[in-house]
Amino acid sequence: TIDERVEDLMSRMTLEEKIGQMNQYNGFWNVTGPSPIQGDAAKKYKDLRKGYVGSMLNVRGVDEVSAVQKIAVEETRLGIPLIIGFDVIHGYETMSPIPLAEAASWDLEAIKKSAEMAALEASSVGINWTFAPMVDVSRDARWGRVMEGAGEDTYLGSKIAYARVKGFQGDDLSKENTIVACAKHFAGYGFAESGRDYNTVDVGTSTLYNIIFPPFQASIDAGVKTFMNSFNELNGVPATGNKFLQRDILKRDWNFGGFVVSDWGSISEMIAHGHAENLKQAAEIAANAGSDMDMESYAYVDELANLVKEGKVKEALIDDAAKRILKVKFELGLFDDPYKYCNKEREEKILGSQEVMDASLDMAKKSIVLLKNQNQLLPLKKQGQNIAVIGALANDKTSPLGSWRIAAKDSTAVSVLEGLLAYKGNKITYAKGTDVAIGIPDFITEVKINTTDKSGFLEAKTVAKKADIVVMVLGEHGFQSGEGRSRTDLGLPGLQQELLEEVYKINPNIVLVLNNGRPLTLGWADAHIPSILECWQLGTQSGNAIAQVLYGEYNPSGKLPMSFPRNVGQVPLYYNYKNTGRPTLPGKDVVFWSHYQDEKNSALYPFGHGLSYTEFAYENLKIKQKGNKVLVKVDVKNIGKVNGKEVVQLYIRDVFASITRPVKELKGFEMISLAPNEEKTIDFTLSDKELGFYDNQGAFIVEPGKFKVFIGGSSKTVIETSFEIYE
Ligand code: IFM
Repeated sequence: TIDERVEDLMSRMTLEEKIGQMNQYNGFWNVTGPSPIQGDAAKKYKDLRKGYVGSMLNVRGVDEVSAVQKIAVEETRLGIPLIIGFDVIHGYETMSPIPLAEAASWDLEAIKKSAEMAALEASSVGINWTFAPMVDVSRDARWGRVMEGAGEDTYLGSKIAYARVKGFQGDDLSKENTIVACAKHFAGYGFAESGRDYNTVDVGTSTLYNIIFPPFQASIDAGVKTFMNSFNELNGVPATGNKFLQRDILKRDWNFGGFVVSDWGSISEMIAHGHAENLKQAAEIAANAGSDMDMESYAYVDELANLVKEGKVKEALIDDAAKRILKVKFELGLFDDPYKYCNKEREEKILGSQEVMDASLDMAKKSIVLLKNQNQLLPLKKQGQNIAVIGALANDKTSPLGSWRIAAKDSTAVSVLEGLLAYKGNKITYAKGTDVAIGIPDFITEVKINTTDKSGFLEAKTVAKKADIVVMVLGEHGFQSGEGRSRTDLGLPGLQQELLEEVYKINPNIVLVLNNGRPLTLGWADAHIPSILECWQLGTQSGNAIAQVLYGEYNPSGKLPMSFPRNVGQVPLYYNYKNTGRPTLPGKDVVFWSHYQDEKNSALYPFGHGLSYTEFAYENLKIKQKGNKVLVKVDVKNIGKVNGKEVVQLYIRDVFASITRPVKELKGFEMISLAPNEEKTIDFTLSDKELGFYDNQGAFIVEPGKFKVFIGGSSKTVIETSFEIYE
């Protein structure tokens, strides 16, 4: 068995070799080249040859991976193969929509397929471990990494986490097209104060257990093999050095059998946090707390052996960590064939193949959300129209690839303009109007925004004047969201809002196509622009997907996975808020209730919102209680003129509880397709799992009492009924 093989290998390993398995290095880029290897890279080479490296990240491509693997297998004493990690977040070279966009599809099969395709491409270039999915729930659109998650809801996030882990890992990790997944960042990273990346997290126990933990538990249910800890602290203890999180919750309570990797340098960052005095102490704290692998802190490889000799870290903990890591390598089949992901022919065949391109297009269409469609301006007519296409993002072939697209080449996405030009029946005229980003932004550096140059406005207004319809493609550049990319302003960056208003004065017949990695504040647009289509960053096939939706070849079916605020001052904003003791206006003009003086409390576009080119009617909501199960039925009918898909959403409210419950909580959803006039009865079953919650000791409880049930096409548009659970 694998366990026996691990034990056998362990019995032959020195302490230093076991610690070596716990060491992960970033690739040294020139592994296949002749260039002299100096500095850090020289140390890495030396450690690799000694068998003191268990994993590398950011080494990619069959040539590079084979080169480092060859050293590990042929030059080290025991020939233990490396596990090769990479941030395969939404595709490897062929990009799918950013994860937040995929979440907007609510289509778990498509999301799983997208992860499968990412694994297929990545596994063909030597990679066998992705640092995905990010399952952090986040309610703060200022945080740049909302693009990488599944949004604000823990229930939807858990379903998506499950689908993604299954997609990456499949049911058999030893197959050459599956790779190890990593649930990250454990835990609380999405709750960074004021949405500023890497900032302090201060959440209560109830939020931790009921909101933050469930998607991680769902990842374990799906069989995830690795976890990554997070940069933030929790109750004053950095997650990397947090024993409560890693040993008590993850490894003891959840019985997690895989291994935990630190985030990049997060062991050494405990010094800056003010938790460890030096690297040696940081290594001691992290190892004792249950961080099994050190990503780029050099802490374990340089300090851990001495710590063991001094009795500060027990050797049994090193054994435990090394075994966990070796087990995953065995499960991948790396000991049987270290080069199984290094097949040149396979690499050439799979990268950018029709299969991955088709899946990327399918996912992109399903991720689009129709936010507004006054007077049915959309879909566009295919013939005889003069269409002005305006906005730098309309002609951008790089931005739609989004953030986290390390291996995708610049300019490989289909732009909106290209997508529209493929349809020949209309006259299309393009004007840039204004740049969003100046220069070509990259992964590492800050994006520079145009705030002064209006030289393109005149041309934009001129083409708008002659047009029947204006399609304006505005939003954020792909690198304006992602890691390290927090914003305090959620409006359209640069001069785009001004351009929109200027063009509107000339021709108000505007379809606003948004490309962005987070919810934006769209108050003006919502009040003036007739049709608004949320298209996120949709990946390689972006323009084709958008054109198909604009022309009605695909009827939009996406629903928002995050609330869109009216004003940045409202965030964190989420649909499943608590009622407070003062939820409503006590009397005319009285000030003492939970509200803002200058803005409504509600979202502009709430969680779950998304229109279609048809309409759906909900009726006959019925409840039947059977033992400790509650059966819910509702009829949904397509009352419009075209076929359409609807995500039927079920929410509950536990009206009184020992720990207050949110005003609404998603507890079920189903996607259905209906032809005009077609009606379907949809059934949901609520059991303890849906009706209970975690108390402040972390125990899952179900309390008797009154519950409300809401069903509808968004968290806001719902019909409701109620039932009671008796003791
Ligand atoms: O996987 C990422 C993580 O999410 C953020 N820091 C760097 C890691 C590896 O690139």
